[in-house]
Amino acid sequence: MKMLSYLLVAIPLFMVQKGFGLGENGNIEELSAMVESHIVAAENYVLPKDNAKLIKVDPYKIVGYYGTFDFIIIGAGTSGSVIANRLSEIGNWTVLLLEAGGHADDFSKILGLSSYLSYSDFNWGYNSTEQQNACLGRINQQCFLTQGRGLGGSTILNGAFYARGHPEDYNRWESVYGNPGWSYDKLLPYFKKSEHAVFYPRDKKFHGVYGPFTISQVNSTPGLVRIKINEMKVV
Ligand SMILES: *[C@@H]1O[C@H](CO)[C@@H](O)[C@H](O)[C@H]1NC(C)=O
Ligand SMILES: *[C@@H]1O[C@H](CO)[C@@H](O)[C@H](O)[C@H]1NC(C)=O
Repeated sequence: MKMLSYLLVAIPLFMVQKGFGLGENGNIEELSAMVESHIVAAENYVLPKDNAKLIKVDPYKIVGYYGTFDFIIIGAGTSGSVIANRLSEIGNWTVLLLEAGGHADDFSKILGLSSYLSYSDFNWGYNSTEQQNACLGRINQQCFLTQGRGLGGSTILNGAFYARGHPEDYNRWESVYGNPGWSYDKLLPYFKKSEHAVFYPRDKKFHGVYGPFTISQVNSTPGLVRIKINEMKVV
């Protein structure tokens, strides 16, 4: 499956790295209108009480149209996308990747405004359970848990932050839940394998450079800056 190109575009970090142009073919008015319409939509968005409305498939209409597959992956979020991509490297394996949401548009590339997307159908709208010592300022002490719904999953919503878990969390998984192979030391080679780290200085003991997943420091938003510069020239 030619999934790689599909999936990589779903990762905002990659987009920033490649400098995908915001409104490259448009102009500043179009861009402002697009931004404004998303902000207005977010401000008027009603968080779902029951996110079944976000699943648009009618179970009675599912037919065997797509054939049979060696693997069916539910969710084209960060991990589903990576798993589908890796499995599809074996040419004679067939892989079906299912995703309830769609493609996020240019608005999701403006990282500083990504919190508005939490108030849209790109977020499943979950809350945490009631917390004892956290979320003190929230109704019922339940935090808002943004979980992306769309190609790229939560990378649509999280402002392109990249953070590896704390080593002790992985070590705990291994020891407490009996998951041999899930300690930080055993996972580190895979973290490195996935990474194309382009920040400096970088410690090669912890970061990889040959993987598909570009990690960089935050750049400015190149397309927007270009439009601004053009606009200034006109003025
Ligand atoms: C989550 O909490 C917010 C208010 O804090 C509420 O508007 C929303 O309906 C809740 N969502 C669910 C699924 O209960
Ligand atoms: C895939 O192809 C290889 C080599 O052509 C073959 O050995 C293998 O059995 C095939 N696997 C499947 C699942 O068809």
